[in-house]
Amino acid sequence: MSEFKFSFFLDDDNAGLGSQQDKREHQSDSQLPKRHLACRIVSNTDKMSPDWNPRILSLSGGDISLRCVNLTAVESRLRESGNQLLLRTSAENSDLIPNFYEGGFKIWECSIDLIEHLLARGIEFGEKRVLDLGCGAGLPGIFALTKGAAEVHFQDYNTDVIHHVTIPNTIVNLPPETILAERCKFYAGDWQQMNVFLNPERLEAMKYDIILTSETIYNPDSYPALIQIFTDHLKLSGSIYVAAKTNYFGVGGSTHLFTEALSKTNSFCTESYQITTEGLSREIIRVRHKTLPS
Ligand SMILES: C[S@@+](CC[C@H](N)C(=O)[O-])C[C@H]1O[C@@H](n2cnc3c(N)ncnc32)[C@H](O)[C@@H]1O
Repeated sequence: MSEFKFSFFLDDDNAGLGSQQDKREHQSDSQLPKRHLACRIVSNTDKMSPDWNPRILSLSGGDISLRCVNLTAVESRLRESGNQLLLRTSAENSDLIPNFYEGGFKIWECSIDLIEHLLARGIEFGEKRVLDLGCGAGLPGIFALTKGAAEVHFQDYNTDVIHHVTIPNTIVNLPPETILAERCKFYAGDWQQMNVFLNPERLEAMKYDIILTSETIYNPDSYPALIQIFTDHLKLSGSIYVAAKTNYFGVGGSTHLFTEALSKTNSFCTESYQITTEGLSREIIRVRHKTLPS
């Protein structure tokens, strides 16, 4: 059996969701018990660590560079400490185990598409409140921070992802004098729980101007929870950018199914941008509230 690796580079392995390998993994995981991880805030206890050894990530279309911690070093450290997430993903040679580990340790290619799309369209982040939903490495949210977002909230299913990758990545991309807690919050847990936990009074000022979400629509079972977050937490004037493969073969999700689910709510309008049709076709969908009647 080949060994599981956190792949840092966007290579063929990173075809990931929708690939034949993934199809097998999803079929064999279908018996896993369903559970909803309670949502919690993960506090930032990390200080700059030498073994993060960040590298520059290449992006096209702008003069911005982002850094990402060395995932091989993260892997070794977690392995040595007997981390359950890593042990099980290694044992199952899988980088996605539904309802246990949802893939946050990898950098999925649509997250780079999303940053490049935001750059190319000159999307303004100044003073905005932003949510990176299903963040994993958190690069789109970090991009928003570097572009002046007032606050960015990051959410991932797994606490370990937030703690060992998202927070370190955020730290290595911001000036050392930044007080992280003033501009960032990190949430871990299931979307259903997150929706209850977040801004319970649904105050408009605490909703998000921009929600960024990449490679999060592979599983149609999660669409209701995802769409509920859009409904409850996007400002009336806000925009959501969903970056995704057009089809997640074998897993069931697709941009078509997702936009159909959105249109059934009768609350949102969508515009789609094709990123590439080579290999697994990829898109960005911009979602906004339908104009309210005056
Ligand atoms: C394939 S990863 C993508 C990570 C990152 N956005 C990227 O593109 O590199 C999918 C992410 O969606 C999130 N996710 C998937 N299903 C979820 C659920 N039911 N509840 C909460 N988060 C979920 C996980 O946090 C996971 O990191």
